[in-house]
Amino acid sequence: MEKMPYRPELDTAMEMIQTPAAAEVVSTDWRTGLPVLTGKRVTLRELRMSDAASLFAMLTTEEVARFISPPPSTVEGFERFIAWTLRQRAAGTYVCYAVTLHGFDTAIGIFQVREIEPGFNTAEWGFAIGSPFWGTGLFEEGAELVLDFVFDNVGVHRLEARAAVRNGRGNGALVKIGAVQEGVLRKSFLRNGEYLDQVLYAIVEDDWRASRETASPVHARIH
Ligand SMILES: CC(C)(COP(=O)(O)OP(=O)(O)OC[C@H]1O[C@@H](n2cnc3c(N)ncnc32)[C@H](O)[C@@H]1OP(=O)(O)O)[C@@H](O)C(=O)NCCC(=O)NCCS
Repeated sequence: MEKMPYRPELDTAMEMIQTPAAAEVVSTDWRTGLPVLTGKRVTLRELRMSDAASLFAMLTTEEVARFISPPPSTVEGFERFIAWTLRQRAAGTYVCYAVTLHGFDTAIGIFQVREIEPGFNTAEWGFAIGSPFWGTGLFEEGAELVLDFVFDNVGVHRLEARAAVRNGRGNGALVKIGAVQEGVLRKSFLRNGEYLDQVLYAIVEDDWRASRETASPVHARIH
């Protein structure tokens, strides 16, 4: 999801949705609050307004933002983004998880998933993690949690991703997690005044389940 679905210029809503504390989420319906996803080293939880400062620090650096839609440029802009993610989740069209490390509540990155068609059968995901945490395996662990969640709980059948051809890490990360390259979308992403080609990837539910059967047991838990 090089193109973030959040459009600050269109976001005029003023109300802020109260974020439930992670432990308070007991509903099985993700639309009322995202369940916490727990891996070996990472915890994925719903964004909170207090994540704005750390996300601003982690996601606005040149190396992180180079191949994605420009992130909000201020802490207040991230607060508006977070409020928007909660409204979209409540509307059932979008999910955004904060990436945190066990024992620390600081958000160091995000995984976003949006429906491409009503009903969430086909969806698109995107992700960004602060560069101090690149190459640590946290991406892979978080991605597996998100994939299990969207295929098991959200009803996704096909999960697409787009990565700029020049985005070496983004492409490498997607291939590593089992995404299959399906084509190149020529000149499909405008970034810094230049139209970039993007690779279209997809993971389909059946392939994901088949790969999970042969993989080592997961230790993920949903609370
Ligand atoms: C995308 C992102 C979350 C991946 O996290 P990460 O920790 O960097 O990912 P990993 O290191 O686990 O995996 C990246 C893989 O790409 C490989 N890679 C790195 N540079 C590469 C290049 N130029 N060409 C091809 N592969 C490359 C790495 O070697 C690694 O594979 P390996 O673990 O088998 O060696 C992170 O890089 C990021 O936040 N990037 C900025 C935001 C972004 O571009 N998001 C959109 C992605 S579509």
